Amino acid sequence: MDIRHVIDFNDITPEQWDALCALGSEIKASPADFERACEHKIMATLFYEPSTRTQLSFQTAMMRLGGKVMGFADPSSSSVSKGETLRDTVKIISAYSDVTVIRNPVEGAAYASSLYSRVPIINAGDGGHLHPTQTMTDMFTIQQNFGRYQGLTIGLCGDLLNGRTVHSLVRALSRYEGNTFYFISTNELKMPSYVTELLMKTNNTLYEVETLDECISKLDILYMTRIQRERFKSAEDYEKQSGIYVLTSEKMKQAKRDMIILHPLPKVDEIDYDVDDDPRARYFEQAENGMYIRMALIHEVCKSNSRIAMPGAYPAPEHAYCKNPRCISNHEKYLPPMTKESDGHRFCAYCDHMIKA
Ligand code: NCD
Repeated sequence: MDIRHVIDFNDITPEQWDALCALGSEIKASPADFERACEHKIMATLFYEPSTRTQLSFQTAMMRLGGKVMGFADPSSSSVSKGETLRDTVKIISAYSDVTVIRNPVEGAAYASSLYSRVPIINAGDGGHLHPTQTMTDMFTIQQNFGRYQGLTIGLCGDLLNGRTVHSLVRALSRYEGNTFYFISTNELKMPSYVTELLMKTNNTLYEVETLDECISKLDILYMTRIQRERFKSAEDYEKQSGIYVLTSEKMKQAKRDMIILHPLPKVDEIDYDVDDDPRARYFEQAENGMYIRMALIHEVCKSNSRIAMPGAYPAPEHAYCKNPRCISNHEKYLPPMTKESDGHRFCAYCDHMIKA
């Protein structure tokens, strides 16, 4: 498997994913067999945004493979606080590490980093955009519980607008067929159109509903999410949306006996404490799986000893070519305009916003 940058889950092919999943299962069954697999390799973790599970599971994953880790969890302790650009930080770190894991609050930051890194960049979350390794965790847990990605009824509930985990997960599942999706959210926090449009082009069924009661009895998987407080413009806007979806034991009585509840964590108030004791609650198992699948990913990404070649120069920057104010191209002004085409439309390669219909 030749895996280099992982910005989007779909940067790996379905065949590579099957192989990665199989490796994750092998590692989970006998982790000791892999304890020297990445000896002499170094992973950098650059976390510009808070994280518990993602950062620690990456670090423990590398340590369990016998490799070493370095980096920062708080940019105020690095040169970033002196005003260093993302480009300079990434260039330097890529001379020190064999793989760089990056989380940044700005959409497209991981893709931007990949333009300047001579080692693989793994996106550990770029603003409200994507979070591919959480998706690997979710897909691995689905595989372990159902053994398939077809014929499933999946409900995604909560902040579908700002939750990067659900964006990545739906993009990943849209590569398969015959699933039914329920997007459960308020009108204000609906799934972005780039995600729904992609899904609607596939052979899957989609319903958008406003209450859990409308669909909970039909689901095989209920994926709960937190309302993303930090992505709201004001505390008032957040308050209007919080506390609307709460999964209780009472509601769980309507669910199938073999439905599973997933959640990327951290959870705040969207799942009642006593639901944790329901055997259908699988989010702690899911978080543990995150470590095994990240071990598999690091194992593959570190296999190659060759550095990634950089182009001599990129095109000159172009002012506000992407209209998304949260896009990294509008924050780090040296970035070249980068676009990609899909179905006759042009999209920003950093943040996926449509540039030209
Ligand atoms: C998620 C994230 O950071 O996007 N957490 C995680 O990585 N496990 C979900 C969240 O913060 O709500």
